[in-house]
Parts: sequence; structure tokens; C-alpha cells
Amino acid sequence: MNLAMKEVDYEQPQAEAGGAVCATKHAWARVPQEPGRSERTALKDKIRRLLKEKNAVMVSHYYVHPDLQDLAEETGGLVSDSLEMARFGRDHSAQTLVVSGVRFMGETAKILSPEKRVLMPDLDATCSLDLGCPADEFSAFCDAHPERTVVVYANTSAAVKARSDWLVTSSCALDIVKALKDKGHKILWAPDRHLGHYIQRETGADMLMWNGSCIVHNEFKAIELQDLMQQHPGARVLVHPESPAEVVALADAVGSTSGILKAAHEMDAKVFIVATDNGMMHKLRTLNPGKLFLEAPTSGNSATCKSCAHCPWMAMNSLADVARVLETGANEVQVDPAIIPKARLPIDRMLAFTSALKGGNDAGRLVPHIGAA
Ligand code: 13P
Ligand code: SF4
Repeated sequence: MNLAMKEVDYEQPQAEAGGAVCATKHAWARVPQEPGRSERTALKDKIRRLLKEKNAVMVSHYYVHPDLQDLAEETGGLVSDSLEMARFGRDHSAQTLVVSGVRFMGETAKILSPEKRVLMPDLDATCSLDLGCPADEFSAFCDAHPERTVVVYANTSAAVKARSDWLVTSSCALDIVKALKDKGHKILWAPDRHLGHYIQRETGADMLMWNGSCIVHNEFKAIELQDLMQQHPGARVLVHPESPAEVVALADAVGSTSGILKAAHEMDAKVFIVATDNGMMHKLRTLNPGKLFLEAPTSGNSATCKSCAHCPWMAMNSLADVARVLETGANEVQVDPAIIPKARLPIDRMLAFTSALKGGNDAGRLVPHIGAA
């Protein structure tokens, strides 16, 4: 396959008062070529066949190519947010999981199911939040603040997860931090500063932040968004909380990928402006055929991939690579077995908490009072 490489350049985070800096600044992504019509049909047929032959199931994120989303659903797999991807992979009986998304999603699946084979179309599909939070620097940050409960976003390495007390995704972060605050916890938060500040504003929790950001959501611009809102006065604005505070302030609904889908379904507006990765448009449009979805404006510097509202690493996932890894068993996700038990604990806490919430039970009882054994 012909692959073009692109540089992914992102802002070097600056230390906030009492916060931390990360050292990573440059990365790259591979851009797979779109297959032609007949090749695409053949690849899909091959994947359907191989999934059956290999007792495998596809788990895809909302930001990957529509073909990978549709194929996952059509074959009995899942397209969803990172929280539900983790739960589905753990609970499904298939012995092989094919995770289309970014690396932390494959690693989370492996940590939860070490006995399963977890394959990814491209193991180099990473995330600026993961890159911007190296485990050794993060560990030193935690060591410097031992009185704080460490809450880490799912978009991190297994080693960073292993250093945390609680894992969260954007769909459960508010509930978990609120429950921790209610039990007297002071929080050390990593790595996304925008999501962290949003949660701090909403809950009033005492949070010390790592200073990472998502190269996609960080690019949404408030002034241009206001211009677009004026052009569409009846439009509702849906924003992912990894976006800057000025953009979040303009939102009618702030939510994770699944929160955005829910809001779009429930609100009776006809036009929506959406500030999240444009991979979401596929599901939003399929589920809401009578509604119009517009992309929120980014910096408009289309010369760099970071301003196109599509994650360059999510874009690395291709039909050809799904077929290849299923056929050959290549690209198996490996997580150091010594790390797995420690990394699993905060993930299990998150899954138990969110299951209790879903079931209408008192999830807060799963959070200990600070100082309690
Ligand atoms: P979700 O947890 O909402 O799936 O988001 C993951 C992500 O990478 C957002 O940019
Ligand atoms: Fe990471 Fe942002 Fe890509 Fe999500 S969209 S995987 S947070 S870089």
C-alpha cells in the first residue's frame, strides 16, 4: 500500500503554576490511501470472512473511517466512545479483538483481557495527550504531591494508568471527580488541561493539572464559532470538553463523543454546530437524517493537519490494515505483564462506578472517604 507520512506538530505545553510540563513536541502520522470501489468491497468481504474464521470481533471508535465504524456494527462488534469500547472488549466472548482507534484503546483492551489477542490496524496510531505525558515525568509529578488522589484520563499509556488511583474518560470524568470531591479528595489531574479546567469549573474540586492538550480539539476557535453561530441563528452548539474554555462557554451542550450523540438526538433543533473530531459526523448524520451538522471552525490553517478537525492518528486506521492484521496476526498489542495488575485497578474502578451509575445505583459508595482505609 502507498503510504504518505505527515509531520504532526503541536504546541509545547508551558508549565502552569504548580503544574508540570511535558517534553514531547513533534510526532508523525501515516496517511492510508482510500481504496477504489472494487478494492473496498473486496476488503470488506475479506474482513467479514476472517472475523468469523478467527473468532474475532471489531471494536471501532467514532472518529475512525466510516467504513470501519459500519463494518464493526454490521459484524456484531461495536462503534462507540472509549469507555464503552473498553467495557465491550472485556465482556465479549471473542478471543481476538480488533481495535480501530488509537493506541491507548488497544492497551486498555489488553489490560482488561490479557488472555485475549488484541490487534490494531496500526500500532503507531498514538494521541497527543499520551505523547505529552511521559510516565517517568508524570510519576515524578505524582511523587511531589503524595497527598493528592491521582485521576488520569484514558488517553494515556499503560504505565501512566498504573501510577493512577482512578481512570476516567470524558463521559464519566465529571461524575467521578464530583464523587471524589464529595469524599474530601484533592485531585492531581492529567493530562488534558481543557477537560481538567472544565471539570474544575463544574465541580469546584481542588485540582492540580498536568498541562497536555488534544491537537484536534485545541484548535477550535471561539471568534470564528461566534461568526458561524450568527450565520445560523437557530443552530445548537455541541462541544467536546477537550476544547478551549472560550469554545466550551459557547456550547448548548458539552459532552463526550457519546454525550454529543445523545444531545443531537434529544434536542429538537434542525441545525447543529459540532466542535469535535469530524469522524463523529458519520454517526451524527446517520442517526439524525433530518438534521444538519456543521463542523465548528478551527484556526483555518489548512496547511497543517492539526487544523483540519480530524485526528491524524485516528486517520491511520484502514480497511487494508484490518484485513492484514486479521490474516497475519500482526500488530498484536503488548502490555508489560508486570504493569497490568496496577494499570487494571483504576480501570476496574471506573467501570464499576459507571456500571453502578447506569444501573441507577449509588456509585458514590464506591469512592472511599479520604483518610479511610
Ligand atoms: P471519548 O472518550 O469520548 O471516546 O474520546 C476519546 C478521544 O480521544 C477524544 O478526543
Ligand atoms: Fe488524542 Fe485528540 Fe486524537 Fe483524541 S482526537 S486520540 S485526544 S489527539
